[in-house]
Amino acid sequence: MKYLFPIAFACGLMLPSCNSSEPKETPTEPQVVNLYSHRHYDIDQEIFNRFEQETGVKVNVVKASADELLVRLQQEGANSPADVLITSDAGRLVEAASGGYFQPYSSTRIDSLVPNYLRDENKLWTGLTMRARIIVASKDRVPQGKISRYEDLALPEWKGKVLSRPSSSLYNQSLLASFIAGMGDSAALAWTKSVRENMARDPKGNDRDQVMAIQGGEGDVALINTYYLGLLLNSEKPEEQAAGNSVYVIFPNQNDRGSHVNVSGAGILKNAPNKANAEKLLEFLLSEDVQRMYADANYEYPVRMGTQPSALLQSWGTFTMDSLNLSQLGAYNGRAIEIFNEAGWE
Ligand code: FE2
Repeated sequence: MKYLFPIAFACGLMLPSCNSSEPKETPTEPQVVNLYSHRHYDIDQEIFNRFEQETGVKVNVVKASADELLVRLQQEGANSPADVLITSDAGRLVEAASGGYFQPYSSTRIDSLVPNYLRDENKLWTGLTMRARIIVASKDRVPQGKISRYEDLALPEWKGKVLSRPSSSLYNQSLLASFIAGMGDSAALAWTKSVRENMARDPKGNDRDQVMAIQGGEGDVALINTYYLGLLLNSEKPEEQAAGNSVYVIFPNQNDRGSHVNVSGAGILKNAPNKANAEKLLEFLLSEDVQRMYADANYEYPVRMGTQPSALLQSWGTFTMDSLNLSQLGAYNGRAIEIFNEAGWE
């Protein structure tokens, strides 16, 4: 599937007003929407503040890891105050959906704005932003064209040169889940073992740390999410800018299954006390303005059809995405964790 910069079209004109069909809220009660979120980006609070200003609905946010939030929801059961769960990984959205945590959204607007491969077919969750998990390589030490596939990182010539964060990262778990689905179990296991053997150091840190390590000469290639390179290149810290400038972008597997993509996304919880406000918030997060904020401030790919990525991401060009259904990331998550353990990728 090709990720092309969407051509702007006037879809908003064809759609009913987002407010017209919503049930009336009791006017005397303060309006709130309660979020459980695994996203950890500065722009999110700014977006929630804007929602409060525009709608009068206060946004309460509890931040924790997706796994911690799911445990909390389980413990709270029917008494949970949470209306919306936001995660930064489709695998965990699928897990929440199959665990019965979500109820379907009723908004037809969401389905008309977000392409079907970035949302759940039963309306249990929708993507909010998209990112690719790419390879970055040292401009000084890795000739252009030397690496074109994820599989290349397993070759002996990269011994002592590969950098990655630990396997506890949902981003790595979903990447490996996509390999299990795309190349089969035994090939995915062999890849994981070989890449672990090729690592420049034990897996540690976050995606930005891997780019810093390339600049520092510890390794030559790393697996990272696209927006982290955008954040480095636009950082106020000179050392982060320098790290960003020391690498170039490789969209892997352009001649076969495509580069792995994942979403940050949201679903409305089964016992949501403020369902109408939850729907209002999801529609707001998919509005043109907010999709622009995600794109321009956090360098994420918009999921809304017709919204362009930032100029920086456009400069990296279009790319072929892995067309694997994102539900497979959840389906193979458990096996991905087993493989990481077997390969010693801590
Ligand atoms: Fe992230």
